[in-house]
Amino acid sequence: MGYFVIDGLKMPVSGEVVISGAKNAALPIMAASMLCRSAELGRCPVLSDTEAAAKILKTAGFECTRDKSFKIRRISDGKAEIPRELCGAMRSSVLFAAPFLCRFGYVRMCAPGGCRLGARPIDIHLDILAKTGAEITYDNDSITAKADCLKGAEIVLPFPSVGATETAIMAGVCADGRTIIKNPAQEPEIHDLCSFLNFAGADIHCGKEIEINGKNAFLGNAVHTIMPDRIEAGTYLAAAAVTGGELFLKNAVYEHIRPFADILTQMGAAVCQTETGMYIDAPERLYNPDFVETAPYPLFPTDMQPQLTALAAVKCGDCLIKENIFETRFAHIPQLNKMGADIEQKSPREFLVHGMNRRLESKTISASDLRCGGGTDTCGTFGQRRGSDTKRRLYSARLRRYLSKDVAYWCKNAVLHLTRRAFKFYYI
Ligand code: UD1
Repeated sequence: MGYFVIDGLKMPVSGEVVISGAKNAALPIMAASMLCRSAELGRCPVLSDTEAAAKILKTAGFECTRDKSFKIRRISDGKAEIPRELCGAMRSSVLFAAPFLCRFGYVRMCAPGGCRLGARPIDIHLDILAKTGAEITYDNDSITAKADCLKGAEIVLPFPSVGATETAIMAGVCADGRTIIKNPAQEPEIHDLCSFLNFAGADIHCGKEIEINGKNAFLGNAVHTIMPDRIEAGTYLAAAAVTGGELFLKNAVYEHIRPFADILTQMGAAVCQTETGMYIDAPERLYNPDFVETAPYPLFPTDMQPQLTALAAVKCGDCLIKENIFETRFAHIPQLNKMGADIEQKSPREFLVHGMNRRLESKTISASDLRCGGGTDTCGTFGQRRGSDTKRRLYSARLRRYLSKDVAYWCKNAVLHLTRRAFKFYYI
């Protein structure tokens, strides 16, 4: 079991942080590297999920090396099977299905793992593979897909799923013929994946619909810098806002996180884009928005909902928060209430946050998913108490792998770069 002890100090979160490459862009791009002769990725984050992705690539016969950049190159035939433990390790293992099919004409995998945010089926991914010509069979808990050659198709997504859009793009790129994706996700990570693939020779046009002229062949060499992580940037903005800090976020892009940045502005903070990043200056007293609901990009991101809830809990006024993407993304709420927040459930997906306009209590709390642990609980406790009586532990068995890599990396980044240290972390 891994846990953090956080000594919240009186000072605000201020100074400068460097935003890392986005996990949610790196993972599909690593999967898509299987369609290329070689790939060289700048700003590829070191996380448990990217390590799992590298292991999947190795199974498929690719060599992965990391120095200044992350390099991927095919060196052997590999195996057309995604190992069970790697499927279970992360949701994004499903993104490898289309590239495996293209490379091997066959893939065997089992249901993906990932943060527990509700049912999270993969039916849309499988429908896409079937639509592009794969034959799908189920055997106990494993899924097999076979296709001699994927064919271009018109794909209408029932919901603009991020992962399913990525699967459709990867299936379409090396397929024979034209693919049109209707109702695709529009997240910046989708555009990052398309720029990566286009650099390697794909022919993808992104608009309201995505149009792909399939090459019926593998792509060439790709060199790409992963986009900055907009959720990491948003989490730092939240941390600065919680504590009334002044922070510069190097590499962050306002447009990527506009719905959250605009809310911070409405609440009373000054947030702007500079030439090299984003800047926030937040007074201690901020006023909550009446209502916020999550929705696909360009609307409010579900990945920022826990951080917004934590922020609203310690600022002024009531705020109704509705989660429309994941049915059970509420693990942070009982933890915040345990620390003295006043958040009441209004309906299965709606929570009314009564802003306390004061700091939360020091408590032992647990975090059961990445955004809950890396964002909310941390954000909710940042600088909220002073002195050595404020030790608290965030722990849970499930969080361990995030703590050991993702969150520890994130926190180390923060501690290294914040010029005025507003808090201390102990990773145990
Ligand atoms: C991606 C992000 C995740 C973010 C989410 C929504 C990555 C690695 N992860 O996850 O951080 O929270 O987008 O912005 O990029 N769905 C189905 N069937 C499917 C696929 C999805 O029913 O086959 C449902 C999901 O259960 C969920 C909704 O669609 O309710 C959105 O999921 P999706 O956009 O696919 O999220 P992910 O790609 O898993």
